Amino acid sequence: MSEPSFRTIIEPFRIHSVEPLRMTTRRHRQEAVARSGYNLFKVHAADVLIDLLTDSGTGSMSRDQWAAIQHGDESYAGSPSYYLFRDAVRELFPFEHVIPTHQGRAAERIIFSVLGGPGKVVPNNTHFDTTRANVEFTGAQAVDLVIPEGRDPQAYHPFKGNMDVSALAALLNERSADVPVVFMTITNNSGGGQPVSLENLHAVREVCDAHGKLLFLDACRFAENAWFIREREPGQAGREVVDIVREMASLADGLTMSAKKDPMGNIGGWLAMDDDELAEQCRNLLILTEGFPTYGGLAGRDLEALAQGLREAVDHDYLRYRIRSTGYLGEALQRAGVPVMSPIGGHAVYLDARALLPHIPPLQYPGQALAVALYEMGGVRSCEIGTVMFGRQPDGSETPAALDLVRLAIPRRTYTQSHIDYVIEVCEQVAQSSGELTGYRIVEEPATLRHFTARFEPLT
Ligand SMILES: Cc1ncc(COP(=O)(O)O)c(C=O)c1O
Repeated sequence: MSEPSFRTIIEPFRIHSVEPLRMTTRRHRQEAVARSGYNLFKVHAADVLIDLLTDSGTGSMSRDQWAAIQHGDESYAGSPSYYLFRDAVRELFPFEHVIPTHQGRAAERIIFSVLGGPGKVVPNNTHFDTTRANVEFTGAQAVDLVIPEGRDPQAYHPFKGNMDVSALAALLNERSADVPVVFMTITNNSGGGQPVSLENLHAVREVCDAHGKLLFLDACRFAENAWFIREREPGQAGREVVDIVREMASLADGLTMSAKKDPMGNIGGWLAMDDDELAEQCRNLLILTEGFPTYGGLAGRDLEALAQGLREAVDHDYLRYRIRSTGYLGEALQRAGVPVMSPIGGHAVYLDARALLPHIPPLQYPGQALAVALYEMGGVRSCEIGTVMFGRQPDGSETPAALDLVRLAIPRRTYTQSHIDYVIEVCEQVAQSSGELTGYRIVEEPATLRHFTARFEPLT
């Protein structure tokens, strides 16, 4: 008998412990956001109904992860929790050295402190902002070489996160001596959560081999990337995600990881690699700021939760639901005529604020106007990714960012379909009255990373 098929893809879990959500009035939210200088990072989370600011560390842990926490061994050195964690990492990424850190950016700081430095250049499909900041902090240059389709919000490509292999080869032909490592971010967060194909990873590996270069993965969303490969890449359908992940790992010399994403942690990260000498240099830096090499910046209980989270991250039912539910939100918005980046990525839907609000010029921050409107309308917190985030230049001038987007990032296993249906309605209502929205001006901003703390005023 054939297996029946159903249209509805349900959440593959039932709810075991609930957290209340706080309903607020529009008036309350208008006052809260005004008090916060119209910066959603400054709004108290208790005043947010559906929090889509980030998918980082905001997911729900499973019953088995909470149970694993009880096994945490807090020995300073040689904790059994470390070995359990190391083995769970190696099940997927069989690298010799696994070095825990408190989160992804700590792994980045360590690896670029060793490999970066003035005169060096680090290519990546697209650097995430902390990755770029950690490269540049050492005096090195961070270069983004994603394929041209990856820069166009409307262009369709099944693997829009791919590296432009000929651009990489050209860079290496010209400046091979200056390139200490090539990075690939899977999925490509800053480029819209878009995946990288296995074929592209193989091609990048070949170019790295031709020049004798290390290849590292920024692997935060490795499982979502592997699911896209299974779904979209010719010849990969029906393959176990675990196998695809191992193949991705086999093409690299190491990786940095934020365990706050696919590994299902609320905190954590790690560095992994095969090279003994490089690992020793990294461990020496780890001890300086993160901690002893068998705990990094983490408690034994965190390591246990991550070991369990890694097993859950590659479960097919979970990944099918995860990718489908992000697609569900994006496709509903497309049907409602709300402009979104396409195709829909793995962890987030990106609204194209510049297209929705053509009457607000980029230097009046259409993304900020849209993000504030979503909060005021329905208590939905999102994140501007546009001119507020990227507009201020190192020389002090201000220029429009390439795109003005608003990211709706979906925490893992946290919201149900009815929450998402509500978000769709909020977006529709804001879009219907989008002509009434006005731009903003910045009244106070710090010297760097202004989006976190700047204060805004609506233009009337
Ligand atoms: C692609 C990518 N790399 C690195 C990081 C940094 O990780 P963390 O926030 O754990 O420091 C993030 C976080 O969002 C990310 O998305």
